[in-house]
Parts: sequence; C-alpha cells; structure tokens
Amino acid sequence: MTPARDSLKAIEETSLRAAELCRQMLAYSGKGQCVIENIRLRDLIGEMVSLFKASISKKAILNLNLKDPLPPLRGDPSQIRQVIMNLVINASEALEEYSGAITISTGIMECSREYLSEAFLNESLAEGSYVWLEVSDTGCGMDQETQRRIFEPFFTTKFTGRGLGLSAVLGIVRGHKGALKVYSEPGRGTTFKVLFPAVLEEKASVGRSNSAKPGGWKGAGTILLVDDEESVRLMGNRMLERVGFEVLTAVDGREALEIYRERHDDIALVLLDLTMPDLDGEETFRELRRIDPQVQVVMSSGYTESEIAPRFAGKRLSGFLQKPYTLNALTECLRDALGAAPLGGQGLVPPPERRGV
Ligand SMILES: Nc1ncnc2c1ncn2[C@@H]1O[C@H](COP(=O)(O)OP(=O)(O)O)[C@@H](O)[C@H]1O
Ligand SMILES: [Mg+2]
Repeated sequence: MTPARDSLKAIEETSLRAAELCRQMLAYSGKGQCVIENIRLRDLIGEMVSLFKASISKKAILNLNLKDPLPPLRGDPSQIRQVIMNLVINASEALEEYSGAITISTGIMECSREYLSEAFLNESLAEGSYVWLEVSDTGCGMDQETQRRIFEPFFTTKFTGRGLGLSAVLGIVRGHKGALKVYSEPGRGTTFKVLFPAVLEEKASVGRSNSAKPGGWKGAGTILLVDDEESVRLMGNRMLERVGFEVLTAVDGREALEIYRERHDDIALVLLDLTMPDLDGEETFRELRRIDPQVQVVMSSGYTESEIAPRFAGKRLSGFLQKPYTLNALTECLRDALGAAPLGGQGLVPPPERRGV
C-alpha cells in the first residue's frame, strides 16, 4: 500500500468512527438504538487497525495476536469498538515518550465462578465460556493505589486526562454482562483483559435469508448509488466495486430519476439515501416506482431501521442499510436484497433483534 492510500484509509475509517460516535451519543441520549449482533472480534479489530495506527504513538509497535476461529460475542459493535479504542489509547499514552509495544490478543476460556469472582463486575456472571480480549502495553504501569481508582469517573493521572475512558469501558462491559481484569506493575506495563460471554451456537440472525459470512459472495450488475454527500458516494462507490458491481452515482433525487429513466434495464438495484435536500429518498423512491414498479431499492440512512420502518411499511423496499456502513454490512444487505425477489407488499425485511444495553 502506498502511504497516501494508507492515510486515506485511516481518514475513511476515522470518519466512519466519528459518525458512529454520533450514533453512540444518540444512543446514550435515548434517541437512537443500540444494535445488538454477533460480533467477531477478529473482523472488528481487523477493521480498526488503520485507525489504531493513526492514533497511537509513532514509537509504538502494534502486535495482533488474534485467535481464529473464535466464537462470536453478542453486543453492540460500536460500543465494543469504543472499549478497544479506549484501552489502546491508554496503552499508547502509557508508553509516554518511549518506544514500546502494544499487543492486542483474543482467545476463549472456561471461566469458573472463582475466576470470575476475582474480576470486576462479577456480580452474577454465569460460569462458562468467555471470549476474551487483552490489550497490553510495555508502558509505565500502575501502582496498587492507582489501580484501585482507575474506574472512577474523572480519575486521571494525566495532565490533560479526563478520566472518563475506563469508566466508559466499565459501563459498556457491564452492559454486555462481561468482566474485566487488570494486571499491572509500575515500570513493567499493563494488561487489561475484558471477558464477554461466548455465543457458542450461532443464532441464525432473524430475517436474513442466509446467515453465513458475506465474505464469499460476489455481486454482479449495476447499482445506482444516490447520495448528496460526496464522501458517501466516493466510499460507497469503492465498496460496491470491491463487491463486484458496476456503479452509477447520482448526487440527488432528480439526477437519480434521470439516470434511472434512461438505464433502468441495466440497473439491478438503487441504493438510496433517505435524507437529501429537495427530492428526498422517500419521494425519489415513489418516482422510481412510477418508472418501474419492480424497482429494487435499498434505503440507507443514519437513522436506525426501526425508526424508519414504519414510514415504508407496505412499500416493497428491498432492504435497509444503516449509515455509516462497513463493507460487510453493505455486502450482506445487497446479498439479501438481490438474492431474494422483493418482498411482495411486505415492506422491509424484519429488523434484526435490537435492544438497549
Ligand atoms: N495502560 C495503562 N497503563 C498505565 N496506566 C493506565 C493505563 N490505562 C489507564 N491507566 C490509568 O488510569 C487512569 C484513568 O484512565 P482513563 O479513565 O482512560 O482516563 P484518562 O486516560 O483520561 O486519564 C489514567 O489516568 C492512568 O493513570
Ligand atoms: Mg484514557
């Protein structure tokens, strides 16, 4: 990879994370909803690597030691990402101005009641298999007194610290019925170990015709990508091409209709942004259906599916894609939409299981 490409990738992922942060804030303020799904740590961490590299000290070496295969855990990916990010940033800050290593490892273990009772948040955790994630560093370490206080909100030993990173970590781990362990010695480094109950039998995700990983699936045909935001068009375009589609883009609803009128025989599906000035996604959808009643449309929006679904009930939408989306989410959504005929009169595919954590 060229350096420019590396930084572009980092920028892309940083902006995705920023958008997710907004979603998280919405979730905390009760406006959004948490999305609970089966999370594979390897994929999740893999997608974050360039973000780590852009965020940690230039003198830090990042090692990954990820077990594969590893059962998934059940949770909200953006919250789990936040946990990992906070731990990695702390690890990097612990290196201070020196060189050192940050290692992210994952694995699975059987946890006895006794083992769990020595962890934070052992309240009523069940014995059993836990997927673990460790972030360790060769940094400054902590004495006992500091270790006792690190999860207190606003506790910090840093000049510019805010002392909220670890209290957020603890809150999220608690919400996921997980546990946390810390090993640290002054001058020798620190290891944070986070444990989450493993999902041993994968639940088929509701409403998905095929719950296998989207990895092997290849798209074919042309997608019309409609979004008023240039960055979304650029990134969406690249992702779609990677999945194997030809891509046409339109900057707004009017252009989308023009293109669709001319080329609807070539267009397999329209990926349509909901919120656009002038002609919004809903109106554009209506006009597209006038041109071809069989048109396949996947609506994409920063709102969650359950907020949007009622507006499209009974309108034969082929799917919904929440922004910001990853390559995997996009692939899975399009595979589901194109793999099956549009749902006659049913509107959206049933939403995946959601709940607040
Ligand atoms: N990897 C680490 N190595 C050494 N000390 C750490 C590490 N992670 C956290 N700490 C200690 O815990 C404190 C609280 O961390 P955190 O809640 O993330 O707040 P902040 O990073 O803003 O200080 C830090 O100020 C630091 O003293
Ligand atoms: Mg911190």
